[in-house]
Amino acid sequence: MRDEATPEAPVPGGPAADQLGADRPRADRPAPEQTAAEQTAAAGASPSRRSLLGWGGAGLALGAAAAGGAAAALGGGSGTQNVASEGAAVPFHGEHQAGIATPVQDRLHFAAFDVTTKDRTALIALLKEWTAAAAAMTAGRPVGEGAVGGLPEAPPDDTGEALGLKPSRLTVTIGFGRTLFVKDGEDRFGLKSQLPEALVELEKFPGDALDPARSGGDLCVQACADDPQVAVHAIRNLSRIGFGRAAIRWSQLGFGKTSSTTPGEQTPRNLMGFKDGTRNIAGTDAPALRKHVWVSDKDGPTWLAGGSYVVTRRIRMRIEPWDRTSLKEQEDIFGRTKGEGAPYGRRRERDEPDLKAMPATAHVRLAHPDSNGGATILRRGYSFTDGTDGLGLLDAGLFFIAYQRDVRTGFVPVQRSLARADVLNEYIQHVSSGLFAVPPGVRDRGDWWGRALFEATERNAS
Ligand code: HEM
Repeated sequence: MRDEATPEAPVPGGPAADQLGADRPRADRPAPEQTAAEQTAAAGASPSRRSLLGWGGAGLALGAAAAGGAAAALGGGSGTQNVASEGAAVPFHGEHQAGIATPVQDRLHFAAFDVTTKDRTALIALLKEWTAAAAAMTAGRPVGEGAVGGLPEAPPDDTGEALGLKPSRLTVTIGFGRTLFVKDGEDRFGLKSQLPEALVELEKFPGDALDPARSGGDLCVQACADDPQVAVHAIRNLSRIGFGRAAIRWSQLGFGKTSSTTPGEQTPRNLMGFKDGTRNIAGTDAPALRKHVWVSDKDGPTWLAGGSYVVTRRIRMRIEPWDRTSLKEQEDIFGRTKGEGAPYGRRRERDEPDLKAMPATAHVRLAHPDSNGGATILRRGYSFTDGTDGLGLLDAGLFFIAYQRDVRTGFVPVQRSLARADVLNEYIQHVSSGLFAVPPGVRDRGDWWGRALFEATERNAS
């Protein structure tokens, strides 16, 4: 049960490419030029992956079992709407990539890749294949010929563990790391001229204990879904397609979103037990997204317009000392109450924070835009628990993810301020870091992740 303070609670601190296999049309496959939403609508309800494979009655029976009875509602009735929206597909094509401003799902599988090929053409082919696979998977379709539809003599195109599962609001979002453009001074793929100015090498912040093997990367893929198996399936299949061209450098599983882009919903809690994501940019707030998240035409480079920058930080929490800390001290650390989530000096969670009512070292006071020249970021992080560390301590924390228009006026000033004075630092440590330029959305079937970037470098060369 979530604990909620009553309105009368005391107020502390205050006076009161080509689609894979698309050339082999199948009756059971939605028309490829449809968007994910159209495909879902055309199916009448959220289609199960197995039913899309066309296995008929046997497939449906198995699919229903796998979906825990959810499939039973497909025939209609008052439950259908809910089931459809819970398992629904998020459109893949659009102006911006899904997975940034779209509603935050429950689960994450994030992976950073090293590009292992030296061949620009092979990299382009990979990005086209990844785009087609992501479009299919987000619509709830299997990759290529599927897990069981291809040649019996060949390994299946799709690994199969998502058969019978719904699209589960899967979003797959790609980013390009600085090392894709230039690594050890080398212009590896002819992209150096298009390196965005804001794709900086992040400075070392006080307290950082970054593991280089778990930081950076040439490419990143963020897969979010309401079903963990669907998110894992997405990364696994991209990794499989990448064989010989790109290899996973590091990855992170996450659960229990720690932020929200839908203010109407109950704010989730992080592993310290506090509501997290109260003051975040709403996915429906187009002016705020334009101002703080989307790269504009004027920002440059042109290929990145409509895109963004993502910062990731694996932040380990010192859970055991935290659990021995008094409630009052915990609340002082954030400057918000634990139950209601109200800022100090105020009563309700969504009340405007009164920064002066908080201790000078409180996390919220230091992170607030008013303390950082207006710096505003869209947070989209997840909790993680990766077992114990060999010393009997939980290896758990926050996999922090933040999107912004420019890190130099977004994450960097906020993190400088937090690293310098945040009393929360006694209980956390940043152990991994990533920064990636996130290209704009894939417009249609003819478009692919990185097309504008590669075309820009062709124009430069000619
Ligand atoms: C484990 C580490 C962290 C924890 C547990 C944590 C937790 C919280 C909590 C509970 C809030 C208050 C509720 C809310 O408005 O969302 C908050 C606010 C915020 N945090 Fe963090 N946070 C962490 C790391 C960071 C980092 C690394 C940054 C950015 C560099 C950051 C930026 C912010 C911002 C911008 C706000 C909103 C401030 C406002 O406008 O009121 N946080 N955080």
